[in-house]
Amino acid sequence: MKKIIIINGPNLNLLGNRERDIYGDISLQEIENKAREKCKKMNMDLFFCQSNNEGELINFIQSAEEKYDGLIINPAAFTHTSVALLDALRAISKPKIEIHLSNIYNREDYRKISITSEGVNGLICGFDSFSYILAIEAINNLIKV
Ligand code: DQA
Repeated sequence: MKKIIIINGPNLNLLGNRERDIYGDISLQEIENKAREKCKKMNMDLFFCQSNNEGELINFIQSAEEKYDGLIINPAAFTHTSVALLDALRAISKPKIEIHLSNIYNREDYRKISITSEGVNGLICGFDSFSYILAIEAINNLIKV
């Protein structure tokens, strides 16, 4: 069975309450439920996590090399700032996908630059919670086991 990790960055624990005009009503728990359902259908094992802490996110990324066949990450605001997350992603040889709920290219200028996406195979953004489902399909396709 393919094993994947989905990592969520800062403030995503507040989904459902936070900036609902942009991110909608869905909570991170509901996104996790949908992701679990999708993984079950695809016979994949899922570890789903969130942290507001950059160091903890780096530890989650590093764990992928030993423990998982693929990694999906929504780095949230660290997307636009963190060379440390980029370096961590670059150090992982497994398939990696960056995702966002919103389309980061039609928002503020400072969101149009994704530092972290230089370290992943591909980027999916702008499909709300369905970005997660698309990424599960995509990672399944990238993982060769
Ligand atoms: C986000 C987009 C980021 O710019 C923002 O900082 C987030 C959420 C998204 O999923 O659309 O926190 O990653």
